[in-house]
Amino acid sequence: MTGLAGRAQQLAEHLLADDPRRWAHTRAVAVRAAEAAGSLPPAQRPVLLAAAWLHDIGYAPALRDTGFHPLDGGRHLRAHGWPDTVVCLVAHHSGATHVARARGLEAELTDLRCAEPVPGSDAEALSDALTWADQTVGPGGEPLSLSERLADVLDRHGPDSPNARSHATREPYLRAAVARTERRRATLLDPVPAPAAPRLQAPGRAGAGQPGRSAPG
Ligand SMILES: [Fe+2]
Repeated sequence: MTGLAGRAQQLAEHLLADDPRRWAHTRAVAVRAAEAAGSLPPAQRPVLLAAAWLHDIGYAPALRDTGFHPLDGGRHLRAHGWPDTVVCLVAHHSGATHVARARGLEAELTDLRCAEPVPGSDAEALSDALTWADQTVGPGGEPLSLSERLADVLDRHGPDSPNARSHATREPYLRAAVARTERRRATLLDPVPAPAAPRLQAPGRAGAGQPGRSAPG
């Protein structure tokens, strides 16, 4: 398996294969991302797919450091030479900045040096597409509306969780990102999304690379 997205899939499978539910979520997010990719410029499409595969690798026990998965995943990718765009998408996916603030980890996230996307830019469209994919797929890979996804997260994490404490500022951000993506999808640059749906493999069957050798070429 070659290419940025292929290498991302291999690494994600290597790290998450022991967590079937997380892996099912990740695979569904990658498929969802492929559905949004046609609304992005061609150069961004493999970046979106790679970030979709990698967005939750910070949950892997081997990567756990701060316990905040966007930060732990982003740090791992940066340390292993992944492109800045992929690092920053993973570190900031789905409004992570809002949750980081509630967890007292905003400075650590800032250390990854990811600029806020300019409104209306291609970078914003890319970030929005990842958030849309992640926020319309449930924890086991099932399709959910954004409202259902938010309700599920609050229910699972509880009223005193950082997710709950950041909800007032994060929810409007997520709703805006999802709405922007749906508008872009309604006017696709290409009539059919350019990337095929990712090839999916059962957990544990890929020749996954070791985390320490995960840097793309
Ligand atoms: Fe996710």
